[in-house]
Amino acid sequence: MELIKDGIRIDGRKKDELRDIKIEVGVLKRADGSAYVEWGMNKVYVAVYGPRELFPRFLRRSDKAVLQCKYNMASFSVDDRKRPGPDRRSVEISKVTRGALEPVVLTENFPESVINVNIEVVQAEAGTRCAGITAASVALADAGIPMKDLVPSCAAGKVGSEIILDLCKEEDNFGESDLPIAMIPRTGGISLLQMDGLMTAEELEEALNLVKKGCKIIYEKQKEALRKRYKGDDHD
Ligand code: CDP
Repeated sequence: MELIKDGIRIDGRKKDELRDIKIEVGVLKRADGSAYVEWGMNKVYVAVYGPRELFPRFLRRSDKAVLQCKYNMASFSVDDRKRPGPDRRSVEISKVTRGALEPVVLTENFPESVINVNIEVVQAEAGTRCAGITAASVALADAGIPMKDLVPSCAAGKVGSEIILDLCKEEDNFGESDLPIAMIPRTGGISLLQMDGLMTAEELEEALNLVKKGCKIIYEKQKEALRKRYKGDDHD
């Protein structure tokens, strides 16, 4: 399969183009904060609860809140039915999601408590961990949890000999490498960096530059979604 021809990708995008991204805030009534992201064909809901008392008690920390993240993929979200419940992949993604978000959350303000972040992927088409992290940081802000910044996230990858932004399903399946990244724009920090496949140091540099550009666009969309939700509104 030819994934890229004359600089145009299999889904018609240029190398440095993101898929269409739509972010909505406050979509779930029972959650303290929530967000919904449509990213290409990915559809992801995030519900945030807390800060609230943590049980069982032995899990509590006297110096900070515990941030619990749970990434789940609905069994109908992929081509082959996914067996319901946690598996190695979802445990890994939950863990790296917590790592991506924790540096921006002021957990030290809420000792003894827990903040729960539930990520539900209802349709998956590559890049769901990035979509989940992007939505989760918006949902945390919607819950009124004090944060240092939002966390935009997207992947770059290598297809053939080209470095491209935001892999679609075919590029993820048949490309050479996939590099999901989450950024903390205010500091320029990186709170998630994984790599599946291989890249040279120069390619990695190029991929990082692409991701920075992508994250800048996503960051604006996150802020815009929050502004839209709270404009002229007196939510607490
Ligand atoms: O979603 P993300 O790219 O963060 O994670 P991945 O493990 O690289 O998975 C890539 C894609 O493979 C997912 O987004 C799904 O579209 C697909 N997938 C699947 O079809 N069935 C699974 N059990 C897991 C993933």
